[in-house]
Amino acid sequence: MKNILNAPFVEEMKKTTANMYRLGWDERNGGNISYLLDESEVAEYLDLTHVVRTIPTGFDTAALIGKIFIVTGTGKYFKNVESDPANNLGIIRIGEDGTTAELLWGYEDGSRFTSELPAHLMSHMARLAVDPENRVVMHCHPTHTLAMNYVHELNEKKFTHTLWEMCTECIVVFPDGVGVLPWMLCGTNSIGEATAEKMKEFRLVIWGMHGIYGAGKTMDETFGLIETVEKAAQIYMLTAHLPRINTIKDKELVELAEFFEVEYRKDFLNL
Ligand code: 13P
Ligand code: ZN
Repeated sequence: MKNILNAPFVEEMKKTTANMYRLGWDERNGGNISYLLDESEVAEYLDLTHVVRTIPTGFDTAALIGKIFIVTGTGKYFKNVESDPANNLGIIRIGEDGTTAELLWGYEDGSRFTSELPAHLMSHMARLAVDPENRVVMHCHPTHTLAMNYVHELNEKKFTHTLWEMCTECIVVFPDGVGVLPWMLCGTNSIGEATAEKMKEFRLVIWGMHGIYGAGKTMDETFGLIETVEKAAQIYMLTAHLPRINTIKDKELVELAEFFEVEYRKDFLNL
């Protein structure tokens, strides 16, 4: 059996959480990541018949029975994942009853998965239904995206349109746009259900005055989606109070989308 601490998926979690922390997106315990793993890959590192303990998920996860995820722990600081993965991360498998998580490794101090597990697993279910290759769901509190929530209408057409205008490549990176939820109580099944509903249509969902969710096939893709939104939001926050002299026009956004052959939300433009 190989050493789990050297597993590529543990390395990816360490690298990504450290990166996100240094970017200021994950203060204190802010943010969480879940990453769907291949059973065969995990079997190289762990005895899959050995369940350390079981933890109720608190919602229906029947669609994910047998699936294995590596997930950040609740109350854990992204800052600390790199130096202490065994306490800050856990590997869980959804049990046969569809409501229990079987802990296979991690959360060694007796803790448990993120309080946002409903939003994560429900989003995985929603994304897998539209893209069977989806693997990652990521939540964080990026500074400029959050700032923009306070000064820009929380309307997904207008919010997406503004982001697209801020950097030339935005419409190419997230042509499907950004879903937007109003402020809601976090850590609940309700916000999980609302997020998953948006995830049927979008790979990015803003949680009003809280943060953002991203979903993708790889850690890089998911990180890149959030990073691009955050960059656009930063440009917006640097310019929103100044007279706008130049902008990327809607017909130029169409040119971009057509040249790069992406399916984009035409209804989010004002043509
Ligand atoms: P957890 O510490 O439970 O992951 O919560 C952090 C967070 O960002 C809540 O939305
Ligand atoms: Zn949060």
